[in-house]
Amino acid sequence: MFACESLETSSTLPLIRMRCSGDSVNDWLPLQQDWSSRICMLPERYGGSFANRIDALETRDDDVFVITFMKSGTTWMQELAWLLLNQLDFSSAKSSFLQERSVFLEASSIFDNLPMDTIDACKRMTSPRLIKSHLPAQLLPRQVWQQKRKIIYVARNPKDVVVSNFHFLTGLGLYADDFNTFVKEFINNKTFYTSYWTHIVDFWRMRNEPNIFFVTYEQMKRDLKNVIEQLSAFLGVNSLDAQQMEQLLNHLKFDNMKQSKYINGTASLKKLRKTSENFEFFRRGIVGSFKDELSEHQKQQLDKWTTEFLSEYNLKESDIFGQL
Ligand code: A3P
Repeated sequence: MFACESLETSSTLPLIRMRCSGDSVNDWLPLQQDWSSRICMLPERYGGSFANRIDALETRDDDVFVITFMKSGTTWMQELAWLLLNQLDFSSAKSSFLQERSVFLEASSIFDNLPMDTIDACKRMTSPRLIKSHLPAQLLPRQVWQQKRKIIYVARNPKDVVVSNFHFLTGLGLYADDFNTFVKEFINNKTFYTSYWTHIVDFWRMRNEPNIFFVTYEQMKRDLKNVIEQLSAFLGVNSLDAQQMEQLLNHLKFDNMKQSKYINGTASLKKLRKTSENFEFFRRGIVGSFKDELSEHQKQQLDKWTTEFLSEYNLKESDIFGQL
């Protein structure tokens, strides 16, 4: 069912390259392609029981999954979707931890000192469950596809994802080399959850499936109100009046989310790992941090890789993310 191999990387947590294998692999996915060629870099622990337990997770009619490549605006979307699914219950949102309201499915494969097993925690969640995962399409629980559960997919442009990933992983002590090496390893699928482009492109090609809501971080930054209106329709919840919309937009502002200990994961991550002094889960929250943080050479390397990858699909980066 799954095949994995160990790889030498600069990650401080040993990573394996996971694939699905066997006959008619992933034929429950709406996109028919050779899914066994798709890879994903995951912690060694994942290759133990995690892969099979996640594959076998039973889903419920009203489940919603928030799926992203890491550092693409997951937390922002989780808070938004949770509020829409819970009748704008701001008082619970301001007094209970987002990571408990919306559990990160495979988190226990990354952090071995969490107080609970996160797959079991998902099983205990009350409905409607909002489950977070960074897994690519082919590794999600098969019932998600077989039962056509709702998926919210958030994509973010690769250069900002690289910048955000580097700060996040080095801050947590999960990456132990310099930025140039990180860029190379990201391109060569040697960092957490890579391959980045197959993750994005597979969901992009499935974006018109009725159970998939595909949105970008860049769209959320450009016009969050419009995203909220579309998402409300997708989730089948009442549309918001002007006052509710104002309240929600205000709650979701970067500075307001950053200030909330119930949303901002910085403190809980500091308890789990020895972080750098200046570690911040909410760092800049902008489109284009790559412009002043990547060197010209790094930008060129990433653009070349993107152009080559996307040409196979007749796509340009701007088709997905607009002009950056
Ligand atoms: P930066 O590192 O570029 O600042 P994830 O939740 O997937 O880990 O993504 C984290 C990224 O989303 C971080 O990006 C973080 O600052 C940004 N982010 C979180 N909440 C946000 C918000 N309300 N508005 C804009 N960006 C937000």
